[in-house]
Amino acid sequence: MAKLGLRRYLGVVEIAGSNPVAPILIKKEKMNHSEPKEIGIGLIGLGTVGSGVVKTLQARASSIARETGVKLVLRRVCVRSLNKKRAVKVPKNILTARPETVIDDPQVEILIELAGGIHPAKEWIEKAFALKKHVVTANKALLAEKGKSVYLAARVHRRRLGFEASVCGGIPILRAIREGLASDNVTHFLGIVNGTCNYILTEMSQKGLSFSKSLSEAQQKGYAEANPALDVDGVDSAHKLAVLSRLAFQAEVDFKKIYVEGIRRITAADIVYAKELGYVIKLLVIGKKKEKGLELRVHPTLLPLDHPLSSVRGVYNAVYVHGDHTGDLLFYGRGAGMMPTASAVMSDVIEIAQDMTKGLDAMRSSWGNEPSAMKILPIGDLVSKYYLRFQVKDKPGVLGSIAKILGDNKISILSVHQKDSLGSRSVPVVILTYEAKESDIRRALQKIDSSPDTQEKTQLIRVEALI
Ligand code: HSE
Repeated sequence: MAKLGLRRYLGVVEIAGSNPVAPILIKKEKMNHSEPKEIGIGLIGLGTVGSGVVKTLQARASSIARETGVKLVLRRVCVRSLNKKRAVKVPKNILTARPETVIDDPQVEILIELAGGIHPAKEWIEKAFALKKHVVTANKALLAEKGKSVYLAARVHRRRLGFEASVCGGIPILRAIREGLASDNVTHFLGIVNGTCNYILTEMSQKGLSFSKSLSEAQQKGYAEANPALDVDGVDSAHKLAVLSRLAFQAEVDFKKIYVEGIRRITAADIVYAKELGYVIKLLVIGKKKEKGLELRVHPTLLPLDHPLSSVRGVYNAVYVHGDHTGDLLFYGRGAGMMPTASAVMSDVIEIAQDMTKGLDAMRSSWGNEPSAMKILPIGDLVSKYYLRFQVKDKPGVLGSIAKILGDNKISILSVHQKDSLGSRSVPVVILTYEAKESDIRRALQKIDSSPDTQEKTQLIRVEALI
């Protein structure tokens, strides 16, 4: 056989129908035997997600190198306390309690920030960009509240910012919107993006538990944030909504203008009444592009039982997106937890590392053009159907006076349901309305709630029918 030189011959094929069969040698282009390129990784934060990242690097660095051509090497890890017992073993010589040791290390090319909180995470990340490092973070609070400055720093220094892990843990929702829907015009999305709240509402619905009992279960299971108020008051969801909206609508979002309402006021009775009416109560993030601006809101919502999001239970997350060309899409999975979130972090690290080896890093910032500022519509302008639960004295004329006030404020009633008083002197009355303007509803409720016949603040839950 002739000398093969640098080319390798891979096999022999037969051509059907040719007789005698002529062996054909298939040539493959010059094989690339070069070693995978080493990329130095620095990590700040060795909590749940950080430990998942270290586990993945320890267990999969070789297979990642084989498959992607990049060898990820953990160079430095910053922890709060050097002596704490940990879920993963990290060589002592790379551990530090000083974030600067990680950021300043010239061998660290990609910084993973998993400490959370706005300050000093913002300063660390911006310094890393200035030192020409790429950054991967799961820090939704930082991106939602100070994102403008962080994105700008990435652009100015032409570095990459990966943040897939900041929304819905293991669901690759940001990549799907950014890349999969690159040519689509996203008109709206609805999402269950907080596992703690979804767990609490599911427990209340399936076991009839109270809000506080379900919350302590969620805390025991480690789903809730260190400060569970961030979960139950809707702030964590609002952070994720801000990040999602920026990508889905290419909008610079003023976080303070997002309407946010949590789940503390939802009672087990509301959940039962909603079910009787054919609905389930979910804490939703809702983003809609309207002619006059964006509707961005977080609040408990009545969803029809046959809506795809209604069957998302427990700690799971899901996002339902509508693109004008693709139509409806549903993304479902684990929104939190060590390995799902670590998987999202690693997806960014690998993407950036691969681009670095291709020399694309200087060309591609994560953001391209700066998104434009878009008006966020005030909640008073919302037009929606409403679930209203009044707690009123059980006496003649009360229902009539409620109906009159609603009518006087242009609110049309779809159905009325008086519930059992269960021996109490007041009764719950549930009214579903047709579509009404929120400012009209609020004006009417102010009047109804100031009546001596009303025994407690009226419960208002918006109804979403969009499928
Ligand atoms: N506390 C959050 C949740 C964790 O419950 O979804 C992930 O952001």
